[in-house]
Amino acid sequence: MLVFAAMNCAERLVELFGSQAEVARRFSLDRAVVNNWVKSGYVPARWAMEVEQVTNGEISAADILNDATARKPIRLKSRPDGENLYIPPTGSDTMSNEFAPAKRISSFPPPQRTLLGPGPTEIHPRVLTTMSQPAIGYLDPVFVDMMEELKALLRYTYQTKNPLTFPVSGPGSVGMEFCFVNMVAPGDKVIVCRNGVFGGRMIENVERCGATPIIVEDKWGEPADPQKLEDALKANPDARLVAFVHAETSTGVLSDAKTLVDIAHKHNALTIVDCVTSLGGCEVRVDDWKFDAVYSASQKCLSCTPGLSPVSISERVIDFVKERKDKIKSWFMDMNLLLGYWGATTRTYHHTAPTNSLFGLHEALLLIREEGIENCWARHKRHHTALKAGLEAMGLKFLVDPKYQVPQMNAVLCPEKVNEVEVRKRLLNEFGLEIGAGLGPLAGKIWRFGLMGYSCRPDNVMLCLSALGSVLEDMGYPVHVGDAESAAHAAYASMHTTEAAAKRRKTAKAA
Ligand SMILES: Cc1ncc(COP(=O)(O)O)c(C=O)c1O
Repeated sequence: MLVFAAMNCAERLVELFGSQAEVARRFSLDRAVVNNWVKSGYVPARWAMEVEQVTNGEISAADILNDATARKPIRLKSRPDGENLYIPPTGSDTMSNEFAPAKRISSFPPPQRTLLGPGPTEIHPRVLTTMSQPAIGYLDPVFVDMMEELKALLRYTYQTKNPLTFPVSGPGSVGMEFCFVNMVAPGDKVIVCRNGVFGGRMIENVERCGATPIIVEDKWGEPADPQKLEDALKANPDARLVAFVHAETSTGVLSDAKTLVDIAHKHNALTIVDCVTSLGGCEVRVDDWKFDAVYSASQKCLSCTPGLSPVSISERVIDFVKERKDKIKSWFMDMNLLLGYWGATTRTYHHTAPTNSLFGLHEALLLIREEGIENCWARHKRHHTALKAGLEAMGLKFLVDPKYQVPQMNAVLCPEKVNEVEVRKRLLNEFGLEIGAGLGPLAGKIWRFGLMGYSCRPDNVMLCLSALGSVLEDMGYPVHVGDAESAAHAAYASMHTTEAAAKRRKTAKAA
């Protein structure tokens, strides 16, 4: 056991592992990040649990938290009140003219938050470091090589061999629109399963493409019903397309994507599947489940910055789009034109690609590749189980039946007489913790706890439970924070025991 007299946690880490480079290796970080910890004299609080794990308890999470809080107390506001003072232009201020902002504007330092809402999520330091590298041209041969790697990593994440798998420039809504605008022609009939906000957005898209939506409606919080889809297809044999959301972010419900796609194919319809919240967080198998077109977003379980929408398009869809006689209504999203930039062999200018965001996505997908996609799904399930145990120990109830719960999106009913908005406000102001509110008919009735990507960690689960418990207790709701925490710890312990037993069985079988 090493003795650390009067050292801060960053120095202790270096002492323990022998060098900054070795610390960086143990945490899969860039050396610059570790160097920054040493220079600033503390390890940021969000690393507490990981440090405890990696050092086998030599440096405890409590030490990291104490150190970090002493060095960098949590600021409740990003700027002090009254800072936005008007500075009258002086004679020497040659930059001032009538268009200059009326208030003095300084650089924007975003506060440090724990993001446990429906996205965006926290971003791994490796992704942030990568994004801050110098820009290069989007036709630079080095960049082109990176694009090919990015496409390969995306195929792995989607579990597909589709050659046309790439990130569309724009948020998830652009990926959604990309699929509809290419696959839906005026006068078409499209069946859309709606059981939340995003099914509604799909209907909007169908209408804006000049087509007729046939709506298969299910209650918010329930999965899309395969029988209703089958009935709708029988009643509308001319429908060429079926669209649905795999994991509905507005309710946290998971639909049976494979069954829905099988039914659509039985009736010769193609499918558009929204995997914005499911990709990277729970099982998505594009090839095995025979999706035709699928889109997602970079800021959810992929844990990158918002603004990129990975899509994967089957050969069936490419042929289908090529056969269209009419012109695709969007120039920017015309699949045939985009193929010129993202296709396997050609690289001609289409639009200026967001280079540094793409570096970031490459790194985010690499992290998933290193973890292993199945392990990534299992991690989301594990922390969901612990969070759920804690929330239920506080007496809170989930909106969705356990069979259909999305691990990375936990929708919980706000208890009667508790001020839903006030709870979220206090979590943000007192704990720097963001959770999501309900949308549409669920506004004011639920909270949404996202455990997505890099945000999906045990330290966040425990922070969330203790922060929520203490706010609820303070507001007079009868909970005992300790009960929630011990329920979560017990869930983790029982999962470890089960995993250890499975490992022992596997080793014994192999021997
Ligand atoms: C299921 C689903 N589809 C589509 C979108 C739209 O994505 P974006 O907000 O990135 O445009 C979201 C966003 O939360 C979503 O959750």
